[in-house]
Amino acid sequence: MPDRPDIRVVPADAARYPTLLQLQVHELQRDFVGPIAVSLADAAQCEGSEAMAILCDDEPIGFYRIEKQARSIADRDFERPTLGLRSFFIDARWQGQGLGTRALAAVMRDLAQRHPAARDVVLTVNVRNTPALALYRRAGFRETGELYHGGRSGPQHVMLGALPL
Ligand SMILES: CC(C)(COP(=O)(O)OP(=O)(O)OC[C@H]1O[C@@H](n2cnc3c(N)ncnc32)[C@H](O)[C@@H]1OP(=O)(O)O)[C@@H](O)C(=O)NCCC(=O)NCCS
Repeated sequence: MPDRPDIRVVPADAARYPTLLQLQVHELQRDFVGPIAVSLADAAQCEGSEAMAILCDDEPIGFYRIEKQARSIADRDFERPTLGLRSFFIDARWQGQGLGTRALAAVMRDLAQRHPAARDVVLTVNVRNTPALALYRRAGFRETGELYHGGRSGPQHVMLGALPL
């Protein structure tokens, strides 16, 4: 029996831009993730950066980007083949219902399928972003112990999570 509602992730193609551009986070969360319009434009310019949509029963409810070069996330290389995850968010109207947790699991499954050579995913999360830290930890991510200082809103934990085999 499939989960309901259905949560899946797909490349953010141009046909979805109008609905994707309506997604936003709560005002207090804007320290932690930039506007989706900026992120979409940036991903279009950056080779190796893929914009992705999170769908709930085919309706966009969230967004993230995948970076083929983990270095672009944490300014360093990793021992195992590692992808970068950035700009992950669930639209404010859809938060607090367990959808972020399910979306992150779908992200990891999708990455394992489409990037079979990759082993880990790296991300950075602001040290003040308690909900996101809890979400990532529950998905199996762990702090590497480093702090990344390149963000616009203060120090961020660097977290690594293993992709499902
Ligand atoms: C972090 C985020 C993706 C979680 O999405 P979500 O759909 O609300 O997540 P879930 O409903 O699956 O909740 C996951 C856990 O997050 C925590 N959480 C969610 N909303 C919270 C809130 N408003 N306050 C405190 N904790 C919260 C809880 O620990 C929750 O676990 P629980 O089941 O024990 O309550 C969402 O809050 C978001 O988009 N935030 C803004 C953008 C952001 O910070 N992205 C991360 C960038 S690194």
